[in-house]
Amino acid sequence: MERLIVNDRIRTSRTPARMDLAQSGTGLVLGLFMWVHMFLVASILLGKGSFNFVAKTMELSFLSDTGHGYPSAVFFAVLGVSSLFIIHAALGVRKFPISWKQHTIIRSQMGMMKHSDTNLWYWQVVTGFIMFFLGSVHLFIMLTHPGQIDPYLSADRVFSSTMWPLYLVLLVCVELHGTIGLYRLCMKWGWFGGKDPVKSRKMLKMIKNRATIFFLVIGVLALLVFFIIGWRHSDRAGEPYNPVHTTVTASGLADEAPPAISSDHGEPEANDHTISNKE
Ligand code: HEM
Repeated sequence: MERLIVNDRIRTSRTPARMDLAQSGTGLVLGLFMWVHMFLVASILLGKGSFNFVAKTMELSFLSDTGHGYPSAVFFAVLGVSSLFIIHAALGVRKFPISWKQHTIIRSQMGMMKHSDTNLWYWQVVTGFIMFFLGSVHLFIMLTHPGQIDPYLSADRVFSSTMWPLYLVLLVCVELHGTIGLYRLCMKWGWFGGKDPVKSRKMLKMIKNRATIFFLVIGVLALLVFFIIGWRHSDRAGEPYNPVHTTVTASGLADEAPPAISSDHGEPEANDHTISNKE
């Protein structure tokens, strides 16, 4: 509880405690969301079909008669996450060292104390600062293109729109910031404290390190797969994925199936992607 001097009288304000609680709450939701998000994005490792299934499910395609889904569902999900992201960042700014002097004081105290949890706090501040810019770019693109998530359109964004350097830096920051944040939440609010706090701190730190490595590995692999798909698709960048014409051959490579025959005319179905989706 912070004590404030108002009109020469010391008054106790609950606002800083409430802001801390709100920051922990938004951080918890965002941290867990990022783990789910990484699993969803990493579905590209199982193949284009799997990622497409995930993307269409996010668009609630199972609820629409045409199977095309509702991009507005993605729009509202991104809007919700973006609002949490902004609230969380705004609450976090309170704790940033705002001048170079404050920064050098913190650095010199860190050097003196050599306390690993204080060093983690510092890395959380640095990664949070970077994420604010890079995460905002990604969220803005998702907000303005909610219907353009599929294996080819996403891979084209990564390769042809040169988003991969941004994603790479953002990925490292997200994985460090998220796992450090969840670890610090457990420490701060005493979750999973157990009978022996020293032992449980050690165990939580080990889980944190393993989670960081796990999500970094699947994130880098997913980015690599998007990069390769985008590179191979670069001459047709912007053309969406069409699962109807993509089959898996005996050699295990994705290949193009013959165009679908329309039942009434015996002609190939009129479709924007009939000729184009060669892989
Ligand atoms: C509901 C909100 C979000 C949606 C729908 C979303 C969707 C996506 C999609 C579809 C990709 C694949 C690449 C692409 O299509 O451009 C991706 C990649 C990525 N997203 Fe998000 N995202 C969201 C929120 C966030 C947030 C809040 C962050 C972190 C601040 C984030 C960080 C990343 C990173 C680092 C990658 C690259 C992952 C990799 O392949 O290694 N995303 N996201």
